Amino acid sequence: MIAVTEIHVPEEAEALVLECLRRGALAQGPRVAQLEDEFAALCGVDHAVAVGNGTLALELALVVADLEPGDEVVTSPFTFVATVNAALAAGATVRFADIDPASFNIDAAAAAAAVTDRTRALVPVHLYGRPAPMDELAALADDRGLVLVEDSAQAHAAAIGGRRTGSWGLGCFSFYATKNMTTGEGGMVTTSDAGLADRMRVLRNQGMRARYQYEVVGHNWRMTDVAASIGLADLHVLDERTEARRRHAAALSERLAGIDGLVTPDPGGSDVRHVFHQYTVRVTGDARMDRDRLAAALAEQGIGSGIYYPKVAYDYDCYRSHPGVIIEPMPEAERAASEVLSLPVHPFLSDADLDRIGEAVRSLLS
Ligand SMILES: Cc1ncc(COP(=O)(O)O)c(C=O)c1O
Repeated sequence: MIAVTEIHVPEEAEALVLECLRRGALAQGPRVAQLEDEFAALCGVDHAVAVGNGTLALELALVVADLEPGDEVVTSPFTFVATVNAALAAGATVRFADIDPASFNIDAAAAAAAVTDRTRALVPVHLYGRPAPMDELAALADDRGLVLVEDSAQAHAAAIGGRRTGSWGLGCFSFYATKNMTTGEGGMVTTSDAGLADRMRVLRNQGMRARYQYEVVGHNWRMTDVAASIGLADLHVLDERTEARRRHAAALSERLAGIDGLVTPDPGGSDVRHVFHQYTVRVTGDARMDRDRLAAALAEQGIGSGIYYPKVAYDYDCYRSHPGVIIEPMPEAERAASEVLSLPVHPFLSDADLDRIGEAVRSLLS
Protein backbone atom coordinates (compact mmCIF):
# COMPACT_ATOMS: atom_id res chain seq x y z
CA MET A 1 0.00 0.00 0.00
CA ILE A 2 1.30 3.47 -0.84
CA ALA A 3 -0.16 5.45 2.05
CA VAL A 4 -1.10 9.10 1.74
CA THR A 5 0.89 9.80 4.92
CA GLU A 6 3.83 8.06 6.56
CA ILE A 7 5.33 9.01 9.90
CA HIS A 8 9.04 8.41 10.46
CA VAL A 9 10.31 9.84 13.74
CA PRO A 10 13.98 10.82 13.26
CA GLU A 11 16.49 8.86 15.30
CA GLU A 12 17.64 12.02 17.13
CA ALA A 13 14.25 12.08 18.89
CA GLU A 14 15.02 8.84 20.72
CA ALA A 15 18.00 10.27 22.62
CA LEU A 16 16.27 13.60 23.30
CA VAL A 17 13.09 11.99 24.63
CA LEU A 18 15.05 9.45 26.68
CA GLU A 19 17.00 12.26 28.28
CA CYS A 20 13.74 13.98 29.29
CA LEU A 21 12.41 10.75 30.75
CA ARG A 22 15.59 10.11 32.73
CA ARG A 23 15.69 13.66 34.07
CA GLY A 24 11.99 13.50 34.93
CA ALA A 25 11.57 16.63 32.79
CA LEU A 26 8.07 15.92 31.53
CA ALA A 27 6.24 19.26 31.52
CA GLN A 28 7.17 22.61 29.87
CA GLY A 29 10.86 23.39 30.37
CA PRO A 30 14.15 24.06 28.55
CA ARG A 31 13.35 21.87 25.53
CA VAL A 32 10.21 23.88 24.82
CA ALA A 33 12.30 27.07 25.04
CA GLN A 34 14.87 25.60 22.64
CA LEU A 35 12.16 24.58 20.17
CA GLU A 36 10.69 28.10 20.38
CA ASP A 37 14.09 29.67 19.62
CA GLU A 38 14.87 27.35 16.73
CA PHE A 39 11.38 27.66 15.25
CA ALA A 40 11.45 31.45 15.47
CA ALA A 41 14.77 31.41 13.59
CA LEU A 42 13.26 29.11 10.95
CA CYS A 43 10.42 31.56 10.37
CA GLY A 44 12.63 34.64 10.47
CA VAL A 45 10.80 36.17 13.45
CA ASP A 46 11.92 37.24 16.92
CA HIS A 47 9.53 35.15 19.03
CA ALA A 48 7.72 31.84 19.00
CA VAL A 49 5.30 30.68 21.71
CA ALA A 50 4.68 26.94 21.98
CA VAL A 51 1.23 25.60 22.85
CA GLY A 52 -0.54 22.26 23.07
CA ASN A 53 -1.83 22.12 19.49
CA GLY A 54 -2.51 24.18 16.37
CA THR A 55 -6.12 24.95 17.29
CA LEU A 56 -4.91 26.54 20.52
CA ALA A 57 -2.28 28.50 18.57
CA LEU A 58 -5.07 30.07 16.51
CA GLU A 59 -7.23 30.67 19.57
CA LEU A 60 -4.35 32.30 21.47
CA ALA A 61 -3.50 34.57 18.52
CA LEU A 62 -7.14 35.65 18.32
CA VAL A 63 -7.43 36.15 22.08
CA VAL A 64 -4.61 38.72 21.92
CA ALA A 65 -6.49 40.43 19.07
CA ASP A 66 -8.84 41.61 21.88
CA LEU A 67 -12.09 40.85 20.09
CA GLU A 68 -15.27 42.49 21.35
CA PRO A 69 -18.58 40.60 21.08
CA GLY A 70 -19.79 40.83 17.47
CA ASP A 71 -16.31 41.46 16.05
CA GLU A 72 -15.78 39.55 12.84
CA VAL A 73 -12.95 37.41 11.56
CA VAL A 74 -12.67 36.90 7.79
CA THR A 75 -11.29 33.52 6.73
CA SER A 76 -11.40 30.87 4.03
CA PRO A 77 -14.38 28.53 3.83
CA PHE A 78 -12.07 25.85 2.39
CA THR A 79 -10.12 24.82 5.47
CA PHE A 80 -10.04 22.35 8.31
CA VAL A 81 -12.78 23.17 10.83
CA ALA A 82 -10.17 24.03 13.48
CA THR A 83 -9.82 27.48 11.87
CA VAL A 84 -13.52 28.14 12.51
CA ASN A 85 -13.58 26.45 15.92
CA ALA A 86 -10.65 28.52 17.20
CA ALA A 87 -12.24 31.78 16.02
CA LEU A 88 -15.54 30.89 17.71
CA ALA A 89 -13.69 29.89 20.90
CA ALA A 90 -11.99 33.30 20.92
CA GLY A 91 -15.43 34.95 20.76
CA ALA A 92 -15.37 35.98 17.10
CA THR A 93 -18.13 35.98 14.53
CA VAL A 94 -16.85 34.18 11.44
CA ARG A 95 -17.38 35.53 7.93
CA PHE A 96 -15.98 33.79 4.87
CA ALA A 97 -14.43 35.00 1.62
CA ASP A 98 -14.31 32.63 -1.35
CA ILE A 99 -11.12 31.03 -2.65
CA ASP A 100 -9.00 31.55 -5.73
CA PRO A 101 -9.55 28.32 -7.71
CA ALA A 102 -5.90 28.01 -8.79
CA SER A 103 -4.33 28.11 -5.32
CA PHE A 104 -7.28 26.92 -3.16
CA ASN A 105 -6.43 29.85 -0.86
CA ILE A 106 -8.55 32.84 0.10
CA ASP A 107 -8.87 35.26 -2.81
CA ALA A 108 -7.46 38.68 -1.89
CA ALA A 109 -10.23 40.61 -3.71
CA ALA A 110 -12.93 38.46 -2.09
CA ALA A 111 -11.30 39.04 1.30
CA ALA A 112 -11.36 42.81 0.72
CA ALA A 113 -15.04 42.62 -0.23
CA ALA A 114 -15.85 40.63 2.93
CA VAL A 115 -14.38 43.23 5.30
CA THR A 116 -17.06 45.19 7.18
CA ASP A 117 -16.99 47.82 9.92
CA ARG A 118 -17.06 44.92 12.40
CA THR A 119 -14.04 43.08 10.97
CA ARG A 120 -11.20 42.84 13.47
CA ALA A 121 -8.99 40.08 12.07
CA LEU A 122 -8.06 38.48 8.78
CA VAL A 123 -7.15 34.77 8.92
CA PRO A 124 -5.76 33.39 5.65
CA VAL A 125 -4.98 29.66 5.58
CA HIS A 126 -1.90 28.47 3.68
CA LEU A 127 -3.76 25.40 2.47
CA TYR A 128 -1.82 22.26 1.50
CA GLY A 129 1.43 24.17 2.15
CA ARG A 130 0.95 26.83 -0.53
CA PRO A 131 1.28 30.36 0.85
CA ALA A 132 -1.80 32.59 0.57
CA PRO A 133 -1.25 35.93 -1.25
CA MET A 134 0.34 37.56 1.78
CA ASP A 135 1.53 40.83 0.23
CA GLU A 136 -2.03 41.68 -0.86
CA LEU A 137 -3.56 40.46 2.40
CA ALA A 138 -1.02 42.30 4.56
CA ALA A 139 -1.75 45.49 2.60
CA LEU A 140 -5.49 44.95 3.17
CA ALA A 141 -4.95 44.37 6.89
CA ASP A 142 -2.82 47.51 7.10
CA ASP A 143 -5.31 49.57 5.19
CA ARG A 144 -8.32 48.48 7.25
CA GLY A 145 -6.54 48.23 10.63
CA LEU A 146 -7.00 44.46 10.95
CA VAL A 147 -5.02 41.95 12.96
CA LEU A 148 -3.42 39.46 10.56
CA VAL A 149 -3.38 35.85 11.78
CA GLU A 150 -1.88 33.24 9.45
CA ASP A 151 -3.23 29.71 9.72
CA SER A 152 0.11 28.08 8.90
CA ALA A 153 -0.91 24.68 10.27
CA GLN A 154 0.00 23.06 6.93
CA ALA A 155 2.81 25.39 5.85
CA HIS A 156 6.04 25.00 7.85
CA ALA A 157 8.82 26.95 6.16
CA ALA A 158 6.75 27.85 3.10
CA ALA A 159 7.74 31.22 1.65
CA ILE A 160 7.11 33.98 -0.84
CA GLY A 161 10.22 35.70 -2.16
CA GLY A 162 12.26 34.11 0.64
CA ARG A 163 9.92 35.47 3.32
CA ARG A 164 8.58 32.67 5.47
CA THR A 165 4.96 31.99 6.34
CA GLY A 166 4.25 33.05 9.89
CA SER A 167 6.29 36.25 9.50
CA TRP A 168 3.57 38.56 8.10
CA GLY A 169 1.08 38.26 10.94
CA LEU A 170 0.73 36.10 14.01
CA GLY A 171 1.77 32.75 12.51
CA CYS A 172 -0.16 29.75 13.84
CA PHE A 173 1.40 26.34 13.24
CA SER A 174 0.25 22.81 13.99
CA PHE A 175 2.66 20.03 14.90
CA TYR A 176 0.04 17.30 14.71
CA ALA A 177 1.45 13.84 13.94
CA THR A 178 0.81 13.96 10.18
CA LYS A 179 2.02 17.52 9.60
CA ASN A 180 5.28 18.33 7.75
CA MET A 181 6.85 18.77 11.17
CA THR A 182 5.47 17.16 14.32
CA THR A 183 5.63 17.00 18.09
CA GLY A 184 2.83 14.38 18.19
CA GLU A 185 0.35 17.05 19.27
CA GLY A 186 1.59 20.62 19.44
CA GLY A 187 1.38 24.11 18.07
CA MET A 188 3.29 27.40 17.88
CA VAL A 189 2.52 31.09 17.45
CA THR A 190 5.21 33.20 15.78
CA THR A 191 5.58 36.98 15.92
CA SER A 192 8.18 39.73 15.98
CA ASP A 193 6.02 41.77 18.38
CA ALA A 194 7.63 41.39 21.82
CA GLY A 195 4.55 42.71 23.62
CA LEU A 196 2.21 40.19 22.00
CA ALA A 197 4.67 37.34 22.60
CA ASP A 198 4.84 38.28 26.28
CA ARG A 199 1.03 38.40 26.59
CA MET A 200 0.74 34.98 24.92
CA ARG A 201 3.35 33.43 27.24
CA VAL A 202 1.44 34.68 30.27
CA LEU A 203 -1.97 33.60 28.89
CA ARG A 204 -0.84 30.04 28.09
CA ASN A 205 0.35 29.60 31.68
CA GLN A 206 -2.83 30.37 33.66
CA GLY A 207 -2.26 34.12 33.32
CA MET A 208 0.75 33.77 35.65
CA ARG A 209 4.04 35.65 35.28
CA ALA A 210 5.80 34.91 38.57
CA ARG A 211 4.69 31.94 40.67
CA TYR A 212 1.06 32.46 41.83
CA GLN A 213 1.08 36.04 40.54
CA TYR A 214 -1.92 36.11 38.19
CA GLU A 215 -2.05 39.06 35.82
CA VAL A 216 -4.92 38.01 33.58
CA VAL A 217 -7.43 35.18 33.37
CA GLY A 218 -5.45 32.57 31.47
CA HIS A 219 -5.47 28.90 30.70
CA ASN A 220 -3.18 25.88 30.54
CA TRP A 221 -2.18 25.77 26.88
CA ARG A 222 1.39 24.55 27.44
CA MET A 223 3.48 22.09 25.44
CA THR A 224 5.56 19.39 27.20
CA ASP A 225 9.36 18.98 26.98
CA VAL A 226 8.80 15.41 25.74
CA ALA A 227 6.76 16.73 22.79
CA ALA A 228 9.31 19.51 22.16
CA SER A 229 12.09 16.91 22.00
CA ILE A 230 10.32 15.13 19.15
CA GLY A 231 9.76 18.52 17.52
CA LEU A 232 13.44 19.48 17.71
CA ALA A 233 14.49 16.26 15.99
CA ASP A 234 11.81 16.78 13.32
CA LEU A 235 12.80 20.42 12.84
CA HIS A 236 16.37 19.29 12.11
CA VAL A 237 15.17 17.20 9.14
CA LEU A 238 12.45 19.58 7.96
CA ASP A 239 14.43 21.17 5.16
CA GLU A 240 15.56 17.87 3.68
CA ARG A 241 12.04 16.41 3.95
CA THR A 242 10.44 19.51 2.47
CA GLU A 243 12.76 19.36 -0.53
CA ALA A 244 11.75 15.69 -1.00
CA ARG A 245 8.05 16.72 -0.94
CA ARG A 246 8.72 19.42 -3.53
CA ARG A 247 10.65 17.00 -5.78
CA HIS A 248 7.88 14.41 -5.50
CA ALA A 249 5.24 17.00 -6.38
CA ALA A 250 7.17 18.03 -9.51
CA ALA A 251 7.64 14.36 -10.46
CA LEU A 252 3.91 13.66 -10.05
CA SER A 253 2.92 16.72 -12.09
CA GLU A 254 5.21 15.53 -14.89
CA ARG A 255 3.66 12.06 -14.83
CA LEU A 256 0.09 13.40 -14.67
CA ALA A 257 0.33 16.06 -17.39
CA GLY A 258 -2.23 16.17 -20.20
CA ILE A 259 -4.92 13.88 -18.74
CA ASP A 260 -8.46 15.04 -19.59
CA GLY A 261 -10.35 16.19 -16.51
CA LEU A 262 -7.33 16.14 -14.23
CA VAL A 263 -5.86 19.43 -13.00
CA THR A 264 -2.49 19.18 -11.26
CA PRO A 265 -1.69 21.64 -8.44
CA ASP A 266 -0.35 25.08 -9.29
CA PRO A 267 2.88 25.44 -7.28
CA GLY A 268 2.78 29.26 -7.60
CA GLY A 269 5.38 31.47 -9.27
CA SER A 270 9.12 30.96 -9.10
CA ASP A 271 9.23 33.08 -5.93
CA VAL A 272 6.77 30.81 -4.09
CA ARG A 273 8.01 27.94 -1.92
CA HIS A 274 5.04 25.58 -1.79
CA VAL A 275 5.87 22.94 0.85
CA PHE A 276 3.33 20.36 -0.37
CA HIS A 277 1.79 19.21 2.86
CA GLN A 278 -0.66 17.77 0.34
CA TYR A 279 -0.42 17.22 -3.41
CA THR A 280 -3.99 17.94 -4.43
CA VAL A 281 -5.43 17.46 -7.90
CA ARG A 282 -8.89 18.36 -9.19
CA VAL A 283 -10.97 15.72 -10.90
CA THR A 284 -13.38 17.76 -13.02
CA GLY A 285 -16.56 16.89 -14.93
CA ASP A 286 -14.43 16.14 -18.03
CA ALA A 287 -12.73 13.17 -16.38
CA ARG A 288 -13.59 9.58 -17.28
CA MET A 289 -14.74 8.92 -13.72
CA ASP A 290 -15.61 11.17 -10.83
CA ARG A 291 -13.35 11.93 -7.87
CA ASP A 292 -14.88 9.42 -5.48
CA ARG A 293 -14.73 6.57 -8.03
CA LEU A 294 -11.11 7.44 -8.81
CA ALA A 295 -10.23 7.33 -5.09
CA ALA A 296 -11.94 3.94 -4.73
CA ALA A 297 -10.22 2.54 -7.85
CA LEU A 298 -6.82 3.75 -6.61
CA ALA A 299 -7.45 2.12 -3.22
CA GLU A 300 -8.16 -1.18 -5.01
CA GLN A 301 -4.70 -0.89 -6.57
CA GLY A 302 -3.09 -0.19 -3.19
CA ILE A 303 -2.73 3.56 -3.61
CA GLY A 304 -4.03 5.70 -0.78
CA SER A 305 -5.51 9.16 -1.27
CA GLY A 306 -7.40 11.69 0.83
CA ILE A 307 -10.15 14.25 0.40
CA TYR A 308 -9.25 17.48 2.16
CA TYR A 309 -12.01 18.55 2.50
CA PRO A 310 -15.21 16.88 1.35
CA LYS A 311 -17.33 19.87 2.40
CA VAL A 312 -16.71 23.55 2.99
CA ALA A 313 -16.09 24.36 6.65
CA TYR A 314 -19.59 25.75 7.38
CA ASP A 315 -21.54 22.97 5.65
CA TYR A 316 -22.45 21.09 8.81
CA ASP A 317 -25.57 21.56 10.93
CA CYS A 318 -23.54 22.69 13.96
CA TYR A 319 -22.18 25.66 11.98
CA ARG A 320 -25.28 26.32 9.85
CA SER A 321 -27.27 26.86 13.04
CA HIS A 322 -24.49 28.76 14.86
CA PRO A 323 -25.19 32.45 15.52
CA GLY A 324 -21.47 33.21 15.20
CA VAL A 325 -21.16 31.89 11.64
CA ILE A 326 -22.23 34.04 8.70
CA ILE A 327 -23.04 31.89 5.68
CA GLU A 328 -23.09 33.19 2.13
CA PRO A 329 -22.68 31.30 -1.17
CA MET A 330 -19.04 30.31 -1.81
CA PRO A 331 -19.18 28.72 -5.27
CA GLU A 332 -15.43 28.21 -5.76
CA ALA A 333 -14.95 26.59 -2.36
CA GLU A 334 -17.98 24.36 -2.93
CA ARG A 335 -16.70 23.28 -6.35
CA ALA A 336 -13.27 22.56 -4.88
CA ALA A 337 -14.81 20.39 -2.15
CA SER A 338 -16.46 18.24 -4.83
CA GLU A 339 -13.33 17.93 -7.02
CA VAL A 340 -10.21 17.70 -4.83
CA LEU A 341 -8.19 14.55 -4.28
CA SER A 342 -4.84 14.44 -2.48
CA LEU A 343 -2.34 11.86 -3.71
CA PRO A 344 0.68 10.61 -1.75
CA VAL A 345 3.56 13.15 -1.81
CA HIS A 346 5.27 12.38 1.51
CA PRO A 347 9.08 12.37 1.74
CA PHE A 348 9.40 8.57 1.89
CA LEU A 349 8.08 7.73 -1.59
CA SER A 350 10.44 5.98 -4.01
CA ASP A 351 10.71 6.65 -7.75
CA ALA A 352 8.88 3.35 -8.27
CA ASP A 353 6.02 4.60 -6.03
CA LEU A 354 5.80 7.82 -8.05
CA ASP A 355 5.72 5.80 -11.30
CA ARG A 356 3.00 3.55 -9.91
CA ILE A 357 0.83 6.50 -8.84
CA GLY A 358 1.28 8.23 -12.20
CA GLU A 359 0.55 5.10 -14.24
CA ALA A 360 -2.51 4.14 -12.15
CA VAL A 361 -4.12 7.58 -12.41
CA ARG A 362 -3.36 7.82 -16.13
CA SER A 363 -4.75 4.40 -16.97
CA LEU A 364 -7.91 4.94 -14.88
CA LEU A 365 -8.64 8.31 -16.52
CA SER A 366 -7.60 7.50 -20.12
C1 LIG B 1 -5.65 24.32 8.29
C2 LIG B 1 -5.57 23.81 9.71
N1 LIG B 1 -5.82 24.65 10.72
C3 LIG B 1 -5.73 24.26 11.99
C4 LIG B 1 -5.37 22.97 12.33
C5 LIG B 1 -5.38 22.57 13.76
O1 LIG B 1 -4.21 22.01 14.23
P1 LIG B 1 -4.23 20.92 15.40
O2 LIG B 1 -4.79 19.65 14.83
O3 LIG B 1 -2.81 20.80 15.80
O4 LIG B 1 -5.09 21.45 16.50
C6 LIG B 1 -5.06 22.06 11.29
C7 LIG B 1 -4.58 20.69 11.54
O5 LIG B 1 -5.10 19.80 12.04
C8 LIG B 1 -5.18 22.49 9.95
O6 LIG B 1 -4.92 21.64 8.95
